[in-house]
Amino acid sequence: MTVADGFTYIDRELHCGDVRVTDIVRETGTPLYLYNLDAVLDRYEQHRAAFASFSHRTCFAVKANTALPLLQVLAAAGCGFDVNSRGELFRAMKAGADPRRITMTGVGKSRADIAAALDAGVALLNVESASECRLVSDVAEERGAVADVLLRLNPDVETDTHPYISTGEAAHKFGLSPGDIRSLAAQAAWLPGLRIAGLSMHLGSQILSPLPYAHGLHVMLKVLDDITPLLDRAPDIIDIGGGFGVRYDVCHGELDPIKVAAVMADVLGDRDDPWTLITEPGRSLVANAGVLVTAVEHVKPSEDRTFLILDAGMNDLLRPALYQASHSIVPVRESEADVQLYDIVGPVCESSDTFAVNYALPSQERGDLVALLSAGAYGASMASTYNSRPLAAEAVVYKGEWHLARERQSLEDMIRGEFPLSL
Ligand code: LLP
Repeated sequence: MTVADGFTYIDRELHCGDVRVTDIVRETGTPLYLYNLDAVLDRYEQHRAAFASFSHRTCFAVKANTALPLLQVLAAAGCGFDVNSRGELFRAMKAGADPRRITMTGVGKSRADIAAALDAGVALLNVESASECRLVSDVAEERGAVADVLLRLNPDVETDTHPYISTGEAAHKFGLSPGDIRSLAAQAAWLPGLRIAGLSMHLGSQILSPLPYAHGLHVMLKVLDDITPLLDRAPDIIDIGGGFGVRYDVCHGELDPIKVAAVMADVLGDRDDPWTLITEPGRSLVANAGVLVTAVEHVKPSEDRTFLILDAGMNDLLRPALYQASHSIVPVRESEADVQLYDIVGPVCESSDTFAVNYALPSQERGDLVALLSAGAYGASMASTYNSRPLAAEAVVYKGEWHLARERQSLEDMIRGEFPLSL
């Protein structure tokens, strides 16, 4: 039985591809992030195929998952990357990314971020303010270069997602209004280090309907038509961002990129502009190809409920505490034991360190293993060492074999670079 992308039960044991999860955990311990890279590559191919009728480039949003082997296999498959900082750029380059397929986005890029991007030969900088345009132009001029930029449009479009991850409405800090884009285009001649190559947008994350993309593209085309006569060279790149929603539990669907491609084609109608379309999927390529394997630390019955206290906490997987996100939880070994209801929590000293309430699982004992599903996106990449808990180990399965991607952080590593007083 398949429970997620590349995770199945074989002989009642959870496997990642053909590899038994317990065989990996025996060597790595828990908590462990585990990714199936073959499943990630399948998702990438599906995404690419959905937009095949366009001149199209996929730039994986590195913030969703920064594991080097995962970035490596995507780079080797020809995938581009969207990076949010020079740190993410550093990782992408270490993984063998082609800088001509990298975009750098981010509302607060520093001089150091911009310089690193230009020095690496990054294809496009998606800029979000007049101040940033001036900075990009200055940094490029210092290098005798001209930077290709996409102006990030805030199209003021509502999405059906959690307010913390909605980014395309006028009140949000992201992007530029249509009016701001027009005035920046009118001043482009005063920014000699910069060429406006097109427009970008990113409406939010975990979007389940294609309609916001249609609305956003509609606004984008209007703005493009307004600014084209103001520019020396016609802009020829449209970047519609990421946000493609995935299935987190049986109650929810996912957004098939084919549906987004269809509304794109609809809005573009019979225009024959020679545009290149960029998409920046993060979650949709990796969320369901990753799990967080964790051990039951204690079973704690209380008056009206039983707590299952895991060895993974909100520092390892922040999404439930931050967005009330629900991740399905499954036993690593299927069992015939009676089903019980549990409040499934972590060991961190916060009540929000709760993964699920009243959750049905076969009766668990100390030491049993469970897997939190859909943890491949914004799991390890958002982890912290809160409560001085070392970062979890990460492993991948690729072509039938498992590899350690990151060893569990040691206590010494955790305090490296800190300076106690000499008392
Ligand atoms: N492009 C830009 C400019 C972005 O800001 C993001 C995500 C993406 C692409 C990728 O979006 P995706 O395809 O993954 O939805 N931590 C939150 C999600 C924050 C997303 C931030 N930006 C979560 O765990 O749900």
